[in-house]
Amino acid sequence: MTHRAVLNADIRKGKIDRNVYGHFAEHLGRCIYEGLWVGEDSPIPNTKGIRNDVVEALKEMQIPVLRWPGGCFADEYHWKDGIGAREGRKRMINTHWGGVVENNHFGTHEFMELCHMLDCEPYINGNVGSGTVQEMSEWVEYLTFEGVSPMSELRQANGQEAPWSVTYFGVGNENWGCGGNMRPEFYADLYRQYQTYVRNYGDNKIHRIACGPNIDDYHWMEVLMREAGRFMDSITLHYYTLPKSDWSNKGAATGFKEDEWFSTLEKALRMDELVTRHSVIMDKYDPERRVGLIVDEWGTWYDVEPGTNPGFLYQQNSIRDALVAGLTLNIFHKHNERVRMANIAQTVNVLQAVILTEGEKMLLTPTYHVFNMFKVHQDAERLDLSLESGKYSFEGRDIPEVSASASVNAEGVIHVSLCNLNHAAAATLPLELRGLVAGTAQITGTTLAGSAIDAHNTFEQPDAVAPQSFSNFTLEDGLLTVELAPMSVTVLAIKQQA
Ligand code: AHR
Repeated sequence: MTHRAVLNADIRKGKIDRNVYGHFAEHLGRCIYEGLWVGEDSPIPNTKGIRNDVVEALKEMQIPVLRWPGGCFADEYHWKDGIGAREGRKRMINTHWGGVVENNHFGTHEFMELCHMLDCEPYINGNVGSGTVQEMSEWVEYLTFEGVSPMSELRQANGQEAPWSVTYFGVGNENWGCGGNMRPEFYADLYRQYQTYVRNYGDNKIHRIACGPNIDDYHWMEVLMREAGRFMDSITLHYYTLPKSDWSNKGAATGFKEDEWFSTLEKALRMDELVTRHSVIMDKYDPERRVGLIVDEWGTWYDVEPGTNPGFLYQQNSIRDALVAGLTLNIFHKHNERVRMANIAQTVNVLQAVILTEGEKMLLTPTYHVFNMFKVHQDAERLDLSLESGKYSFEGRDIPEVSASASVNAEGVIHVSLCNLNHAAAATLPLELRGLVAGTAQITGTTLAGSAIDAHNTFEQPDAVAPQSFSNFTLEDGLLTVELAPMSVTVLAIKQQA
């Protein structure tokens, strides 16, 4: 297999927004309850009801933005049910997700406290599907209005004197599906109406986010951009990776063979095509690229773990998920001009989670480690990196074996992130370094590799898949030759010589 890459360290391609490292937390299964929120009386160590161990891990990973409360849940959520004294809050059935009782103990105040603890930006998703314009408008007033008003007085009565700062506000979720089964023309008009009342109060400037298409629904994108593009700051895209492309038989998170390894990575790579084609439509209506594309739901979606509630979407997470994360983040870097935020689904215990919990126990998944290794790209300048990758073939189908991207941070340190998608063969990558001076001593690395095709962490063996330091490279006359282990994700740091 021959690969070849050239890094042009003196050609900068714009900022990689840190928000592409964002996350999504829905009232679904054990994401909010147990995963993030345990309540003040829990024996699990917590601060104001929020798990200390999870907060610490997410802060370490530098989570930049968190989307809440859904998802499909958002279009059934009535925010006033989740404020005031907790014991008096309305109990409801979470009809979308497992039919369990939602006691609304985690609401607006708890979410804003969580974001404060994480030092991340809140991204709140409002209800268009079953909520009113007034309800959405009052939520924004409750959150951000400083002066005398019914909603700011209500907020103060509930213990929050000063308004919060909220930048990101979504006007509906999946309104083509669980958010109301709307046609794009109808939703475009509703979006225009609802967003009118999502007001900026004082210094708080809201970034209005329209519900965008599912996967390759280019018609939805076309209609939304044409009819409502000038009223939005960003539009969303949802794309999940299912190994078998079949919602009734998606494929297992572990215990799979090469066919599902290959098909999962093949499908994850489709993100590049989707973003490219949606961007072409956006360019037509917004050539200045004012409107951002926010991929606010992405990741793997497998059959749930045997014996768990099918509505809870709990799945294991293996080295395969690490590869999906690495190659997808590299794709987002490539599209940094348009993709300004992305939110992997979902933070804890749901779908491609970075953290799994069981009672007081917590583990970091391989996906967590990739986010932690790649955080060096947050707000860095993307560098030109051309890659001619050899092919990884399976049963007559080909995908590129290597995925790569590079950036330079404010201190001038260059980071190169590399994925070897082949589960069985190592990859040798000759990487020509142009426009920089560095010796071997200036290069360090970290790698995450698997010992089996479905290597994963368990509560008994939480470090089975963990990052290791990496030095499997040589440098000669500006040619850096990197040996990538099978099924591995690697990040190199290159400190340039003065
Ligand atoms: O992330 C799980 C669900 O997937 C979300 O609630 C919904 O928006 C999407 O269909």
